[in-house]
Amino acid sequence: MNKRKEIFLKDYTKPAFAIERVDLVFDLYEEYVIVTNTMECKKLDAKTDDLNLHARDLELESLHLNDLQLQESRYVVTEESLCVLNVPETFRIKIVNKIYPQNNTELEGLYKSGDIFCTQNEPEGFRSITPYLDRPDVMSVFTTTVIAEKEKYPVLLSNGNKTQCHEFFNDKGRHGVSWHDPHPKPSYLFALVAGNLGSISDEFTTASGNLVALNIYCDLGNESKCTHAMKSLKEAMLWDEEKYGREYDLDIYNIVAVDSFNMGAMENKGLNIFNSAYVLADEDTATDANFMGIQSVIAHEYFHNWTGNRITCRDWFQLTLKEGLTVFRDQSFSADLNSAAVQRIEDVKALRERQFVEHASPTAHPIQPKSYISMNNFYTATVYEKGAEVIRMMHTLLGEQNYRKATDLYFEHFDGQAVTTDDFVWAMSEASGIDLEPFKVWYHQSGTPKLHVHKNFAKGVFTLELTQEIPNAVNGAKQRAYFYPLKMALFAKDGKEILAKTLSISKMQETFLFENLAEEPILSINRDFSAPIIVQEEHVDFAFLMQYDTNSFTRYEASQNFALQTIESLIQGDAINEAFVKAYGYILDLDVDTSYKALLLELPSISTLMQRQKVIDFDVIYGAKEQLAQHLAVTYEAKLLALYRENHEPQSQHLDADAMGKRSLKNRVLRILAAKDSSVVQELAQKQYDTSVTMTDRVVALDVLENSASDYRKVAFEDFYAKYKEQTLVMNKYFSLLSASHREGVLQRVIQLQEDSAYDEKVPNLVRSLIGVFARNYKYFHAKDGSGYKFVAEKIIAIDKINPQMASGLAGAFKIYDKMNEENKVLLKKELECIISTQSLSKNVFEIIDKILN
Ligand code: BES
Ligand code: ZN
Repeated sequence: MNKRKEIFLKDYTKPAFAIERVDLVFDLYEEYVIVTNTMECKKLDAKTDDLNLHARDLELESLHLNDLQLQESRYVVTEESLCVLNVPETFRIKIVNKIYPQNNTELEGLYKSGDIFCTQNEPEGFRSITPYLDRPDVMSVFTTTVIAEKEKYPVLLSNGNKTQCHEFFNDKGRHGVSWHDPHPKPSYLFALVAGNLGSISDEFTTASGNLVALNIYCDLGNESKCTHAMKSLKEAMLWDEEKYGREYDLDIYNIVAVDSFNMGAMENKGLNIFNSAYVLADEDTATDANFMGIQSVIAHEYFHNWTGNRITCRDWFQLTLKEGLTVFRDQSFSADLNSAAVQRIEDVKALRERQFVEHASPTAHPIQPKSYISMNNFYTATVYEKGAEVIRMMHTLLGEQNYRKATDLYFEHFDGQAVTTDDFVWAMSEASGIDLEPFKVWYHQSGTPKLHVHKNFAKGVFTLELTQEIPNAVNGAKQRAYFYPLKMALFAKDGKEILAKTLSISKMQETFLFENLAEEPILSINRDFSAPIIVQEEHVDFAFLMQYDTNSFTRYEASQNFALQTIESLIQGDAINEAFVKAYGYILDLDVDTSYKALLLELPSISTLMQRQKVIDFDVIYGAKEQLAQHLAVTYEAKLLALYRENHEPQSQHLDADAMGKRSLKNRVLRILAAKDSSVVQELAQKQYDTSVTMTDRVVALDVLENSASDYRKVAFEDFYAKYKEQTLVMNKYFSLLSASHREGVLQRVIQLQEDSAYDEKVPNLVRSLIGVFARNYKYFHAKDGSGYKFVAEKIIAIDKINPQMASGLAGAFKIYDKMNEENKVLLKKELECIISTQSLSKNVFEIIDKILN
């Protein structure tokens, strides 16, 4: 059974030993793998006698210290360690152990994805490969030799540069390849791949003239789907040189796509391993969102080479040091290469839908948590997305130039080290001269701060009174005021911008005066979403801001807030606010970028509406939103149809901003029209499915058909299945569409789909598409007979036995517990209790459910 020990940041101590060099040999066989691990160690703490290595399920074959075989009295093996007693100051230790990758369904350590051997070691997977000081502050130089049957495993990869290639001319047909990585690194960045893989190759010349070989590996036959990933990699390499002055530092950069992967992708030094969903794409099988996703994930993992690999984390509590910063970098990259306005809105949307929800739940934690049971549970929206906002605020406070000075200082000062978030903030402060001590609360406090805005105008003076409201910590403790940049502007009634500036907020309450104004101005606040806060402001002229705000973010915000207000008054039983309907019509006529327009026309998500309710009753929220959507569909039917036709280019497969923007707007319009299910809409969707040549268009058409009364639904889905049943990435979309459906009988269909030959409970992508999406199908997950909860709970228990990380991901759906209405709460509680009383529950699932229940 997994230990449920809580680990605390305050207990951190430095490692007692250094591992200066490590030499690994992997002998791969179908039934087992022999690992030979030779480490050169040095004692750092004179008071420590024993070398205590991390080891999980260790099967030891032999142990040598300085070439002498050790007797059993010289070491102790426990469930989680190998302790070598009484070691000298410097020594070499050689460990031979046996592992069974083919039985590894947790997908941590060395495992098999189909016929490919691959690894996933962050955060603590390496200890299940071989005994080691498996902590990020132990950095060593790795040399790795991989040996396997040549015919089955022609491709043998590890980190760094290739050193030698030798064939074994014995009757077993085995061969081996050695790799050497000159850059010291922690074990979590170690990687190994062996398989019969296809690949595409390219090259990149760095600013200082080094030639880098680029390879992307995938299952044979998928090579042509790797070109977009390759293009993205080169874009990322160039951008990091131009924006941060950082070059790549090895002769070779390899990426391998595998189908079974717990996460999106992993930044192993010189050998990234990717979920194939973030590599493979072509116009026939991938949506526009898939193409954008690949570009950003490829960039993200590449950017880690500096922010994560060259400079890594001292301990896992510092995770946001590399993830928050790297997410900020990938967001900036995407904004530079695509529409900056759309990128910012999408990022804020994601933050609010995932991170704000987490911050309002029992699993709330600061971006730098204070303790954990399972580190795997802390790769959260808070550490990532809010972590990125925290970096962004420093960027805003410092300005572009000082920020660059500060990152240069950070890279120069800490290269090759494992550091803390304090070290990063030190560099920001040192380079800019700005005192960032008060800023550090962002790292240590949880909950989303609110800002109450009071406005007053008298005698030409506009008074802005701002009051922070800080939520208590999860344990009820009071928390301190935040320090942040607040971008704002004032407008005259004729729409002219009077002034725009960035206020610096640091106290619980502050007042700002704006003098010599001819008339009462209109306020635009938290422009660009300059701080991750909730603004509470009364008497806002939404329609004005929708028309005149020069900031694309706050303009969007006004349209969203107006819609929220309208839906919420419907929930209260009021009639539809015609002022909103009018403003919506105004947007339909707006001449702005199509992808931005598509965002302006989107009604707030159910999740956003749910967050704003004290007690959640899904049916009421859903009903109100539907009522408004239908009203808009009816009121503007003619305009919407015209807009659809104007932007519908079924034969275009282009991936440029113009083509993607048109698809995005056209599909938004189709969804709005679909709020009122009519034969007109059904025909549009049918025709779109039949004639469009992009996956983006087909998926939207299928979704509209699935949620309509159209008979064509069956035909289209059967056609889709027949075409794509062999392509697992497309089948993910198929399962998601059916799991997200609002049509009667979803649960029954989901249960049946588990038997489909394209489905496999061991593959995380498929589980997320079928079960994970169902757990976010509010209508049927929260069904009043409890069937949705019961099904998901049973799946969590079953999947936990296969892959605890996947199971705890699914368990996240229950984080909503506290805010549900009494009726649903009773049903939910029953299932939560059932899960937690399960025998040998993993620590991953235990930690989540325990927090929800207590
Ligand atoms: N370092 C992570 C991968 C990882 C995640 C390892 C969780 C161990 C546990 C990687 O850099 C990452 O952040 N991947 C993201 C995608 C990224 C674009 C945000 C992921 O896998 O979701
Ligand atoms: Zn990352």
